[in-house]
Amino acid sequence: MFNFTYHNPVRIFFGKDQIKKIDTQIPISAKILITYGGGSAVKSGLMEQVKSILGNRNYIEFGGIEPNPRYETLMKAVELVHSENIDFMLAVGGGSVLDGTKFISLVSHYEGNAVDLLKMGWGNITSKIINKVVPFGAILTLPATGSEMNPGAVISYENGKFGVMYELLYPQFSVLDPTYTFTLPIIQVANGIVDTFVHTVEQYMTYPVDARIQDRFAEGILQTLIEIAPANLNEPKNYDARANLMWSATMALNGNIGLGVPQDWATHAIGHELTALFGIDHGQTLAIIYPALLEVRKTEKRAKLLQYAERVWHIDNKDENKKMDLAILKTRTFFESLGVQTRMSKYGITNSDIPRIIENLNSHGITKLSETGDLTLEIVEKILKKAM
Ligand code: NZQ
Ligand code: ZN
Repeated sequence: MFNFTYHNPVRIFFGKDQIKKIDTQIPISAKILITYGGGSAVKSGLMEQVKSILGNRNYIEFGGIEPNPRYETLMKAVELVHSENIDFMLAVGGGSVLDGTKFISLVSHYEGNAVDLLKMGWGNITSKIINKVVPFGAILTLPATGSEMNPGAVISYENGKFGVMYELLYPQFSVLDPTYTFTLPIIQVANGIVDTFVHTVEQYMTYPVDARIQDRFAEGILQTLIEIAPANLNEPKNYDARANLMWSATMALNGNIGLGVPQDWATHAIGHELTALFGIDHGQTLAIIYPALLEVRKTEKRAKLLQYAERVWHIDNKDENKKMDLAILKTRTFFESLGVQTRMSKYGITNSDIPRIIENLNSHGITKLSETGDLTLEIVEKILKKAM
């Protein structure tokens, strides 16, 4: 196992009606900006509930944070933070609203050009660059990204999606009430299951380092997702199914299973370009890339792929190659059973689009992917062809 340092300061309020607890977390004197998306939280009545809990506190609202939140939209909120002297934010929504709020929080006390922060790459923002952000809490309505318990955000700018990660960007608290997911369109639930699954395997399907707790936690999340997927799709108001999905999504990307282990993230990097170029939902891009990546990377991932086949899918075929192939097929079939297509052609992408995808990765400086940095753009091309 590799060395690691672990600290996660997010206070989680999990379960029905836990939203009331935010009253204890937000200073009475705070000047608050409530951020939200395209209106689902208004329609469901959640925003009204939030406001009644805030009571006489001083707050204003900023709505319209779109899926794959855009830099330009968020900069409008930064202006509001300045002009209204905002000193606390409350994000109400899915990963996009949470990520957008993190970016607003980050930029609000930054003197330089905010675009530079996007170009710094994951984890390269330090206290020398920014040492103060606007504190914020989150009320999550879509289980998928893990943003509610991590310090990362993904922001769309020009023709790319850029990740920022900084330790001051952990939410102060996150409310995880499974009943808020009851209004989700089923495709978003399916996207969330795929996203959670792929977050887990990006930190698991690498090479063995004898990290048994991390491996078994990861396998536990994967098995849970497989088990609870049908109820989550077929019974939108099944509280226990949604509760297990919500906690799986948080646990998959709150740092826990990634401690002391190699990580891949190639599927996410390639997937982000598919969203940026073709507007495909984040979860769907992962369902396209991941099975194809496994097919191309069987040799490099052999040991963990065999472990995954045995422990997650209970495949006991003696022929190791068949075992791996079956595990890959089961993964693809699982995504498709959720109603998420795994072929690029199903999203209207053709072979002639592949050079644009490669070009975009190249122009974003993403040329050495995988847990060892050996996945070149030539290999990405093979993966994309397999995904067709
Ligand atoms: O905007 P509203 O009206 O709220 O509607 C949203 C949106 O249209 C809707 N929705 C959310 N909760 C709902 C609801 N509709 C009805 N009832 C509810 N309870 O769902 C749609 C999608 O929302 P979005 O927030 O975009 O989805 P998701 O949570 O999947 O977030 C995706 C974004 O997160 C980034 C992705 O790249 C993408 O930009 N990611 C963030 C990560 C992180 N911070 O750690 C990691 C992930 O890998 C991912 O990259
Ligand atoms: Zn993801």
